[in-house]
Amino acid sequence: MTKLRVGVAGLGTVGSGLVKLLLSQKSVIKERCGGPVLVTAVSAKDRARDRDFDVGKTVWHDDAVSLAKDENVDVVCELIGGAEGIALKVCEAAIGSGKHVVTANKAMLAVHGTRLAKSAEKHGVEIHYEAAVAGGIPIIKAMREGLSGNDVTGVLGILNGTCNYILTNMHDAALAGESRDFETVLDEAQRLGYAEADPSTDIDGIDAAHKLAILTSVAFGTEIDFGSIHIEGIRHISAVDIEYAIELGYRVKLLAIARKGIEGIQQRVHPGMVRERTAIAHVDGVNNGIVVQGNYAGTTIYEGPGAGGNATASAVAADLVDIARGHQTATFSVPTTRLERHSAASIDGISSPYYIRLMLVDKPGVIADIAACLRDQNVSVESMLQRSRNPGDVVPVVLTTHEAEEASIQNALNSMEHLRSVIEKPRMIRIEEI
Ligand SMILES: NC(=O)c1ccc[n+]([C@@H]2O[C@H](COP(=O)([O-])OP(=O)(O)OC[C@H]3O[C@@H](n4cnc5c(N)ncnc54)[C@H](OP(=O)(O)O)[C@@H]3O)[C@@H](O)[C@H]2O)c1
Repeated sequence: MTKLRVGVAGLGTVGSGLVKLLLSQKSVIKERCGGPVLVTAVSAKDRARDRDFDVGKTVWHDDAVSLAKDENVDVVCELIGGAEGIALKVCEAAIGSGKHVVTANKAMLAVHGTRLAKSAEKHGVEIHYEAAVAGGIPIIKAMREGLSGNDVTGVLGILNGTCNYILTNMHDAALAGESRDFETVLDEAQRLGYAEADPSTDIDGIDAAHKLAILTSVAFGTEIDFGSIHIEGIRHISAVDIEYAIELGYRVKLLAIARKGIEGIQQRVHPGMVRERTAIAHVDGVNNGIVVQGNYAGTTIYEGPGAGGNATASAVAADLVDIARGHQTATFSVPTTRLERHSAASIDGISSPYYIRLMLVDKPGVIADIAACLRDQNVSVESMLQRSRNPGDVVPVVLTTHEAEEASIQNALNSMEHLRSVIEKPRMIRIEEI
């Protein structure tokens, strides 16, 4: 390669991080690519903003779409964000102009990934997106290349740093004997910059689902299917659930899970309890962690920073090095003509042990009523915890079940909710055996 000319659209956390990395790592990248990787054009919304680096003679485009068509650009890095709008237009323009695309935009890929991949194939260009899933962890490369001799049977991960920060903080507080509720920790995360002013995309599980949609496609060679993901966030996780999880030997994490079974591919994002002794239980703070199950490699585990300028820029730079080296890979593991349309397995069909917490008015017969709700659905109880009580008090009662079907558990919870002595909506957390 003589040189690779890069256009960077978006100079925020990731875009600035990338420009700085390409400047400071210039010689090492040149060595590895056999020629320089140069930023020849940039674009952002506000030209006057101090970027903490010198763009020198680099061409500035007020319009990011014009950057995407600039004839002095070989690769367009789309680092603006958003599923629709300017980011999508930039990618479409770049592909249409015969340029490779590198993007960190999981929201866009989760919605338009298959269509963009088809268009890229038609125009003979590549789309790379290592930074879109789990920031600095090279999970796309690991799955698309390192595990390409395997049939992947499952992928399970902690894919959202904000949720993991909140849950880790609640866990640590409970261990220290201080109860910290979700809202308090969320406020603190916002003050520290770990959560957005509007945190809903993160804490309601949407961001993790965007990343899962991409991982599923890479893992199973299927078209992206964001719409069929079952999504639950962490708003309802209380300090008392975290305390019981510790007592039972578990940690609560927001899990993103994709599994292939006879009924199709199951994709779900929800809080889950994982055993304290597992590696995933110890992925803490803003870190991400992913477990991949392959039929030959077995279980492999990846952990690292899921966000931040440096970690994400590292992933974008690796994509640029791949392109500079002329490395060609199908966007989602297989050419788009061979991407399967999978049938989506409903969450009702999953089977796992469950944690259930009820707030009960303690009076004779109430436990028998609860047991009857489970018995009627063929669910058997593994353990029950009840804190100290006086008759007539409201007490938390916690049950764990043996493996049961989701639909049966939902029916049982529904019946329990209608019992007179159950004074709050019963809480359920799935227990994931990894
Ligand atoms: N931040 C992370 O840690 C992280 C991690 C993984 C993936 N990502 C993904 O990376 C992408 C970028 O995220 P970020 O955190 O870097 O966002 P950010 O800090 O908000 O930066 C966005 C950049 O886009 C520019 N921009 C906005 N509208 C534009 C327009 N119409 N034309 C040209 N430029 C425009 C902004 O310009 P101004 O600077 O002038 O406002 C800014 O430089 C997103 O897809 C995000 O999901 C981020």
